[in-house]
Amino acid sequence: MKYKSSSLKNKWTKTKWLLEQPRLRKHVPRTMLFNRKNLQSMLSAHRMIYFKPADGSGGAKIIRIKRLASRYRIQYKTKKSYYLTLDALHQKLQRFAGSRSFLLQKGIRLARTNGKPFDIRVMVQKTNRGNWVSSAIFTKIGERNKVTTNYNQGGAIGYFNETMAGAGYDTLKIQQLEQQLKQLGVAVGNNFEHHVEGFRELGLDVAIGPKGKPWILEVNTSPRFYPLKHMADKKLYQRIIFYAKQYGRYS
Ligand SMILES: Nc1ncnc2c1ncn2[C@@H]1O[C@H](COP(=O)(O)OP(=O)(O)OP(=O)(O)O)[C@@H](O)[C@H]1O
Ligand SMILES: [Mg+2]
Repeated sequence: MKYKSSSLKNKWTKTKWLLEQPRLRKHVPRTMLFNRKNLQSMLSAHRMIYFKPADGSGGAKIIRIKRLASRYRIQYKTKKSYYLTLDALHQKLQRFAGSRSFLLQKGIRLARTNGKPFDIRVMVQKTNRGNWVSSAIFTKIGERNKVTTNYNQGGAIGYFNETMAGAGYDTLKIQQLEQQLKQLGVAVGNNFEHHVEGFRELGLDVAIGPKGKPWILEVNTSPRFYPLKHMADKKLYQRIIFYAKQYGRYS
């Protein structure tokens, strides 16, 4: 049986919600709907952008675009190809998109842990008492040669403290970042329920930029956490389940 929590696929709608609130807006990389004009404007402002389906794809169908000195380079999974003009690039992306709606988002150079890029999942859940809690934070560690960190694209799940230590953070910095991420999670929970009723769980995908700033890449409304089941430390999984049971989700 389906448990009770609202869900919303459209990333463009969800991104616009975040952009409305100054406190959250500063943590959202510039995002636009894909079309030729926006492609041109994003590429003149940013060296690297991400091209992704507006309705999500579990990390599939995501292309990274880089502006080089005299051409554009795109990378899809591990495959790179080159385009000499914006028109040629646009045509390629348009064919790739078909009739599906896509977004362009400023690329964040992901922080690395022991040489591998990673991002962070902040799990946020609403209790029966009606308050939001950031119940678990873990990391998704990508492969060096890929453009996404998703679990089903070969990403590995990591512990927050370990991953951050591997990225050169000391204990104090790690604690501060954890607090900041938890607050961000609660703020996003409040923001979302202001727009649509009935959300009980959200999963923020947060990238850590070169200067240590958290950037919200997307907010999942039906976040998966089954990979946590297989971790040696079961605490994260158990904490999530503790809150999930309150809205009828058991795994
Ligand atoms: N703007 C960006 N800068 C850097 N990396 C990005 C950016 N957007 C996406 N990525 C990488 O791609 C991964 C997947 O992107 P995202 O979470 O937006 O889509 P998704 O997981 O396919 O969507 P959904 O979960 O809705 O199916 C991120 O976890 C991150 O590793
Ligand atoms: Mg994601």
